[in-house]
Amino acid sequence: MSQFDVCVIGAGPGGYVAAIRSAQLGLKTVIIEREYMGGVCLNVGCIPSKAMISASHFFHRVGHDAAEMGINVGEPKLDMKQLQKWKQSVCDKMAGGVAQLLKGNSVEVIDGEATFKSKDELVVKSKKGDVSVRAKNFIIATGSRPIEIPGFKFDEKDILSSTGGLALSELPSKVVVIGGGYIGLEIAGFLSKLGTHITVLEAGAELLSGVADKEAVQVVARKLKKQGVNVITQAKAKSWKKSGKGLEVTAEVGGKDQTFECDKVLVTVGRKPNSDQLNLKGVGIQMDERGFIKVNPQMKTNLPGIFAIGDIAGQPMLAHKASHEGVLVAEIISGKNRVFDAKTIPAVIFTDPEIASAGLTEEQCKAKGFNDLKIGKFPFAANGRAVSVMETDGFVKIIADAKTDIVLGVHIVGPEASNLISEAVLAIEMGARAEDIALTIHPHPTLGETMMEAAEATLGHAIHIIQRPLREGAKSAPART
Ligand code: FAD
Ligand code: NAI
Repeated sequence: MSQFDVCVIGAGPGGYVAAIRSAQLGLKTVIIEREYMGGVCLNVGCIPSKAMISASHFFHRVGHDAAEMGINVGEPKLDMKQLQKWKQSVCDKMAGGVAQLLKGNSVEVIDGEATFKSKDELVVKSKKGDVSVRAKNFIIATGSRPIEIPGFKFDEKDILSSTGGLALSELPSKVVVIGGGYIGLEIAGFLSKLGTHITVLEAGAELLSGVADKEAVQVVARKLKKQGVNVITQAKAKSWKKSGKGLEVTAEVGGKDQTFECDKVLVTVGRKPNSDQLNLKGVGIQMDERGFIKVNPQMKTNLPGIFAIGDIAGQPMLAHKASHEGVLVAEIISGKNRVFDAKTIPAVIFTDPEIASAGLTEEQCKAKGFNDLKIGKFPFAANGRAVSVMETDGFVKIIADAKTDIVLGVHIVGPEASNLISEAVLAIEMGARAEDIALTIHPHPTLGETMMEAAEATLGHAIHIIQRPLREGAKSAPART
């Protein structure tokens, strides 16, 4: 039996980061992983989906924009098997990198599935038989998996989860996507660009409901429509059956049943925590009604020495949140006085255009009692770089408190929103005012200038759009002290 300072369960972006940081801090560390280094993120989540999205974007642009730029390459042809091979090589490279980092930091790796035997001992079912592991501290980072809905059991042949949707070796001609959230729209977006006809059935009244700025979502919805994606809201998928060579999905739309023909059904209605296979109840670790482990702001569970991080510890289920928590917990275990006190966890939805946000939406500002807001918006259509890369849809919106000028939220829909948002995160973390962003010299010609101009717009004086002059005594920024 081995004894460690830290035992991490799950090698996703939460677990492997926690293990590396623990080892950096001199703690004797082991990590247990049952399936793949890098977890969902590197193998069947963030990385493969972004690889497919970037390939489809390239494919689409070659077919649509190249000729306008005077580049005539003819009709692009898709080799789906080669695309999958390339995507897999990206994932393998990243997962291999994680294995090397763990080794280089002297983290012991055990391949196998862990279950708690007691609150200070695990049993790992490995290829070499059962292994017992004892540790002073356990970090549970076992992540999440796709939710199934009644009647749509995943077989990854007809009924696909996100994992199947990312692994198609042939391009389907028609796909019905159930759920118009993060995953549904990212996969629908790339399949549609590669040539699949997509119907999205969303149960709610809007796409991406409650997770993104409403105006930003409208920009994406318009582009999806232009691309030929059929979005049906308030649609409840009820059943499916084989029909001829394909499938037929029945959904209730506005009280009436409608049928939709397709080759595949992709179900993306959310994810649930992997908390049911660890004997957590048996050792007395508290969970909420949905199976997420309850933690305090130091990611401590109710049992001393047992922590939980990443998807298993609740929303938002994002890789960067998992990694942040991994570092946090390793440092707490090593004796540092830390607590989860991030002011904002940015979120990006890799649609076309991308949606990225940090801080509060207008509705959240109002709910928190910020009633007097200054909102500046700057369109990508007025930015030279965006025009030169032919990606002019969307805008940057900055929301600041009218009394203090402090930035409360930033919402970007447009090219490279995923990369642009980090400036907003830093601004919010540092308690910046909109004026700080406006006075920061941004290089030209860059997409980043849209941040500066949106900040200027909150103050009423963006240069490259027409703004009515501020009235005397109107909501201008207070003078700097
Ligand atoms: P996971 O990555 O789920 O890793 C958990 C690991 O624990 C797994 O490897 C699992 O095999 C292992 N495990 C589970 N139980 C046991 C056990 N009993 N014993 C041993 N090992 C075990 N997030 C983003 O921030 N950006 C994105 O662009 C993004 N894109 C996504 C796209 C898709 C299609 C999906 C599905 C998710 C995406 N996510 C994205 C979400 C992101 O993948 C997760 O938030 C992130 O992976 C969570 O990390 P984690 O470490 O908590 O868990
Ligand atoms: P989601 O919660 O984002 O969206 C699910 C959607 O399905 C919602 O709009 C919901 O109204 C709808 N829905 C639920 N039940 C339904 C039903 N029966 N019929 C039709 N629609 C139904 O969940 P998703 O897309 O599965 O993603 C899970 C999580 O993974 C995200 O919340 C996010 O945390 C993470 N993720 C992050 C990404 C990123 O950061 N870019 C990308 C992909 C996933």
